[in-house]
Amino acid sequence: MQGDFALSLQIGSLQVQPGLALAPMAGVTSHPFRLLAKEQGCKLLYSEMISAKGLVYANNRNRSLLYYTEEERPIGLQLFGSEPAILARAAEKLERLGVDFIDLNFGCPVRKVTRNAEGGALLRQPALCSAIFNAVIGAVSCPVTVKLRKGWDEKSYTLPEIAVRAEEAGISAITVHGRTVEQGYSGKADWDSIKEVKKLVSIPVIGNGDVDSSQAAAALIDYSGCDGIMVGRAARGNPWIFREILAMLEGRPRPQKPSFAEIRAVVSKHYQLLIDLKGETAAAREMRRHSSWYIKGLPGSSAARQTLLHATSQAEVEAILGNLAGVANG
Ligand SMILES: Cc1cc2nc3c(=O)[nH]c(=O)nc-3n(C[C@H](O)[C@H](O)[C@H](O)COP(=O)(O)O)c2cc1C
Repeated sequence: MQGDFALSLQIGSLQVQPGLALAPMAGVTSHPFRLLAKEQGCKLLYSEMISAKGLVYANNRNRSLLYYTEEERPIGLQLFGSEPAILARAAEKLERLGVDFIDLNFGCPVRKVTRNAEGGALLRQPALCSAIFNAVIGAVSCPVTVKLRKGWDEKSYTLPEIAVRAEEAGISAITVHGRTVEQGYSGKADWDSIKEVKKLVSIPVIGNGDVDSSQAAAALIDYSGCDGIMVGRAARGNPWIFREILAMLEGRPRPQKPSFAEIRAVVSKHYQLLIDLKGETAAAREMRRHSSWYIKGLPGSSAARQTLLHATSQAEVEAILGNLAGVANG
């Protein structure tokens, strides 16, 4: 199957070749990690979700969420909210920042979000979805995309209806995560729902859910006919998944797994970029999870992962990885 996948993705006037995206993940995909994913071959980036209300009413809190650099283009910033007028004002603000496109979050299952009728709760209100599409598209000239799940639960499979509404309103691309909101991240992603949307609309469809290797990427493309693929959890601690998938898409041999030296260098760069973006304290907090993901599965890593979860400085993380180097044959 190698090399059979052109995976050409066109989002409005943006050409993304091949359509290989890093999923938006709150607390994970801020600027540093996006940059590392891009360096490994990812072609399309999204910010973490940003509250439209927060953006319109409380400007300063979003500074690090809004931060991106030229190397990250094309980049979309993702909004969540439920009021069309506020989402439209937030989108105008994002457009003024020069983003390439704006993505709408219609899938977040976190209770704090859904109890305000935001994120995944919107899937219960198809008419409101259309109102949001119209308001946001009317407010900006850049492309607007949406990320959907299957529906609220198995009994309310609203995805097809909302996908059609999205196309009618002028949405430029749809990402489908093949799970219900109620499922959260459990169970298997339902790729049939991606296939169904692909058949139903003529705008590009990005498939998402359980892509954790180049084989899984090939299988999803083959099965659903999607125009792009989006990788979420499998990229945590493993930006190299993008070079593996890119090689498959381009018909090249599978690249080597990263050496321990390469992993250490990336952890170090990630940490430094986070310090630059958020300061020492926030960086230390955020890097605990990242550094533990980076070494997952390496020989002797389980004890080191526990220690990393309490590390308070870059020097400490480097020392823990230094100790592991002996074991992991760095
Ligand atoms: C920690 C975490 C944070 C997430 N944050 C967001 C978010 O901000 N916006 C969004 O649209 N999806 C978010 N998601 C969902 C992912 O974008 C993706 O749809 C989901 O993880 C399924 O893809 P995967 O199986 O490749 O992980 C998040 C997922 C995780 C695990």
